[in-house]
Amino acid sequence: MICRRKFLNLSIASFIMMSSKETYAEGKKIKRYKLVAKATDHSFSNNQKLTNLWLLNNSCPGPLITAEKGDILEVEFTNLLGEPTTLHWHGIRNLNSMDGVPYVSQPLVETGETFVYRFPINETGTYWYHAHNKAWEHVARGLYGPLIITNNLNNSLGRRDILVVADDWLINENNQVDEESFGNLMHWSHAGRYGNRLSINGQFSPKIEIPSYGPLRLRFINTSNARILSFSLLNKNSLNVISIDGISCKLFKTQKIVLGPAQRVDLLIEDSSQLKSLFEVSNKEPLKVADFIPTDLEIEDRLNLIDPIVHHEVPPLTSAKIIEIHMQGGAMGNLSSAIFEGEKKELRELALDHSKLWAFNGHIGNYDFQIAKVNLGDLIILKVWNDTNWPHSMHLHGQHFWVNSQELSSDKRYLLRDTYLMDRGEKSEFIFKANNPGDWLFHCHMLEHHASGMGGVISVA
Ligand code: C2O
Ligand code: CU
Repeated sequence: MICRRKFLNLSIASFIMMSSKETYAEGKKIKRYKLVAKATDHSFSNNQKLTNLWLLNNSCPGPLITAEKGDILEVEFTNLLGEPTTLHWHGIRNLNSMDGVPYVSQPLVETGETFVYRFPINETGTYWYHAHNKAWEHVARGLYGPLIITNNLNNSLGRRDILVVADDWLINENNQVDEESFGNLMHWSHAGRYGNRLSINGQFSPKIEIPSYGPLRLRFINTSNARILSFSLLNKNSLNVISIDGISCKLFKTQKIVLGPAQRVDLLIEDSSQLKSLFEVSNKEPLKVADFIPTDLEIEDRLNLIDPIVHHEVPPLTSAKIIEIHMQGGAMGNLSSAIFEGEKKELRELALDHSKLWAFNGHIGNYDFQIAKVNLGDLIILKVWNDTNWPHSMHLHGQHFWVNSQELSSDKRYLLRDTYLMDRGEKSEFIFKANNPGDWLFHCHMLEHHASGMGGVISVA
C-alpha cells in the first residue's frame, strides 16, 4: 500500500519535484525528462481495490512536465508495454518530426524501444501529452500527462497554480478497466466510449489544498476519451477565463466552463477563500468531484498568475484559401456510403467489416487520407460543417486556429485554440496561417470517432 498524505496537494509546485535535468547548449536550456510506459496498478481512492492502468512513470496522470518558453524539451520515451505506441504533445506547435503521430510523422515505438523527442518550446501555456497509437485504448488506459510552459519557473507555478486534470474512466465491478468495451461499435457510432467514474488528477473526489486567501490560477485539462465535461464552482458564478488551449486571452467571464475532450481552460480566482468545491454540472444534479481545503502553509506570493498576453490578432481574411470539410456519418446520420481504401462502400458494410463510421467529404479518413495540401505561409479558412447528429471535439495538429463562437459565454468572440467543440449541425470557420511545414492531422478528439474515420491530414509545404 502506498503511504498517502491526508490531502492531495495539487499545486504545480508540488508536482515539480519530478526528476528532470537541465543542461545548456548553445545558450539554450535543455530540459530533460525520462518517461517509461508500462502496465501499473493505480489507487484512485484509499478504500478501493487497485485498478489495472497503463501509465507513464507509474503515475496517474503522467508526470507533470514543465519548461520555460525558449527552452528545448527533451523527453526520452521508453515503451515497456506489450504493444507499440508514440507520444504526442497536444497543442504544441511542434516540429513535424516530433509530433508523435505514427504513420505520419514517426515510426511506432515498439516494445522495449526508446525514442527521444526533442523540440523547442516557443509558447507558454497549459498543454498535455498523450499516447497517439490506438489512442482510443491507450489514453483510456492512462497514457497521458500534463505539460505546463511558463515564462519563468521561479516566478510562477507556486502553490497558487493548481492543476485540475479531469478524466472519465470506464471501470467494471472489479474496479478494473472495462476491457470488453474497447472497440464497441455502439460507442464508436454514437458519442464515443463514456466512463462511469470521474477522476481529478488521478483521484476520485480528492481534497485539494489551496492557500487560504489570495488569488489562484486553476488549469483545467479534459483528458477524457469522449466525454464533454462542464465545471462550475457553484458558489462562484462568475469565473474569469484567462487562457484557452494554452493561449492567453483577454480576460472574460463565464458561469461554467465546458471542455470537450483535449480542451484546456485556465481560470483566475481572485480570492481562494471563496473556493469550496468543484462540481461537474453536465447533468441536472451537480456532481461534486473535489473539495478545496484551505491551508496556511508558507504561502508564496511571488506568483505571476497571468501570463503577459501576447497579442494575437485575427489576420485580415482577404486573400485566404478556403478548404471545405464536410463531416458526415455516425448513428442517425445521413451518410449512406463512402470511399474507403479507394473503393465506394455502403455504410453498413463499412461498419460491420471495418469498424468505419465517419467521413470527411465522402471519404473514410485515416492516417493516409489527405484532406488538403496548402502552401507554407498561406492563410487558410477551414469551413467545417458538422453534418452529423453528434458533437465533435475537432483538433488540428501543429497550429492554433481562430474560431468566432459563443462558447463559454453568450458574447461572440474570436478565440485562438487547438481543439474546438462543435455542436451537431454547426458550421464554423477555423482560421490559421499555415506557417508550420509538414503533414498535420486534423481529427475528432473523441478518440473512437477518430479511429472509425473522422481524421485526415492537411499538408503544409
Ligand atoms: Cu491530442 Cu491527434 O491529438
Ligand atoms: Cu467526434
